[in-house]
Amino acid sequence: MMPLRPMAALLQRLVDKIDPHEGRYRMLFERSPLPMWVVDTQTLRFLAVNDAGLRLYEYSRNEFLAMTASEISRGEEIPFRDFLRREGGEVLHGVFRHAKKTGEMIDIEGVGHLVAWRGRPARLVQINDITERLRTQQTLERLNRELELSHERLRALSRRLFEVQEEERRRLARDLHDDVGQALTALKIQLESLARGGAGELAARSRVEECVDTVQHMLERVRQLSLSLRPPQLDDLGLAAALRSHIDRQARVAGLQAHFETEEAPRELPPDTETACFRVAQEAITNVLRHARARNVWVRLFTANGRLAISVRDDGRGFDLDSVRERAANGSSLGLVGMEERMALAGGSFELRSAPGQGTVLLATFPLPATAKERALG
Ligand SMILES: Nc1ncnc2c1ncn2[C@@H]1O[C@H](COP(=O)(O)OP(=O)(O)OP(=O)(O)O)[C@@H](O)[C@H]1O
Ligand SMILES: [Mg+2]
Repeated sequence: MMPLRPMAALLQRLVDKIDPHEGRYRMLFERSPLPMWVVDTQTLRFLAVNDAGLRLYEYSRNEFLAMTASEISRGEEIPFRDFLRREGGEVLHGVFRHAKKTGEMIDIEGVGHLVAWRGRPARLVQINDITERLRTQQTLERLNRELELSHERLRALSRRLFEVQEEERRRLARDLHDDVGQALTALKIQLESLARGGAGELAARSRVEECVDTVQHMLERVRQLSLSLRPPQLDDLGLAAALRSHIDRQARVAGLQAHFETEEAPRELPPDTETACFRVAQEAITNVLRHARARNVWVRLFTANGRLAISVRDDGRGFDLDSVRERAANGSSLGLVGMEERMALAGGSFELRSAPGQGTVLLATFPLPATAKERALG
């Protein structure tokens, strides 16, 4: 298409000479692929419209010529009227919203030229339909904002991940130093004293027993430490057993009633899916213990529509999702954001329902590989 300005200048020259009764120039107006109309600048009544104009506004010629310009510019009448009536011969540009006959709104860019139409001042307006362009632009802007937001969330999440990693290391270092280190020091002293000898057989035996006690204590601490890093049941017994053991332990500590329900969980789950499912449930249960003040928590592991699903529901105080999302967006809480990210990485989907006073339900589902699907459904 020809650029708008040179096209407008050319049209201006032609239009100056338009005599509506003279076929040559009239043809140019009629046949132009650009929608155009001419309006009386005093009455705003339409004087002429070309076929492209009729196609755009979806009126018949008689209907169009029976209207004034106000009728197509619903809601934006005053700026549009000013645009049409402005004194002076210059070329004017403006962007407006117009209504088609059907009521559908379109965004248009108008270029107006002051002309004489049978001796009366009139304005010839060329229309460029920019509805699609504006819509695409708005979609792009929205997508950009969303992208920016998810970047921010990701940045907050990775900052938080580093913090958590540091906290975890500090805790491990403290536990290793305080518990295992001290026990080993005690053991060393006990063994040295044994090595020096001199004690009677009875005393020596009691020292060996002390050493065994110390080792026993150490074993217990190391077991707890490794349990806190990764539940071994996940590798040894599978997802359902690991979840059951985790829920029972947590509920016992917090004094709430846990209800765990599972179908025959599909075997041969991809390890990533198992880990994601376990960690999402773990975070949801931690949230129930920390925030819900619930009496009961229901955890259900099942398969539906070829997907592995886990739900965690509580009868606690619930919360307002929108305000929590807002807080999460500025990085002040990251459990839910972390769950969402983990689910996205595992190709799963995630739904959270809550309202103040109504408890909370979390449902997470994961795609199953074909073999696991057959077993689960068969
Ligand atoms: N089961 C629940 N019952 C009531 N409120 C909840 C529940 N789960 C989450 N919330 C609310 O949602 C907020 C956000 O949870 P989220 O897990 O993202 O952060 P957090 O638990 O506060 O901190 P962290 O980042 O350590 O997980 C919580 O602060 C709490 O107000
Ligand atoms: Mg949390």
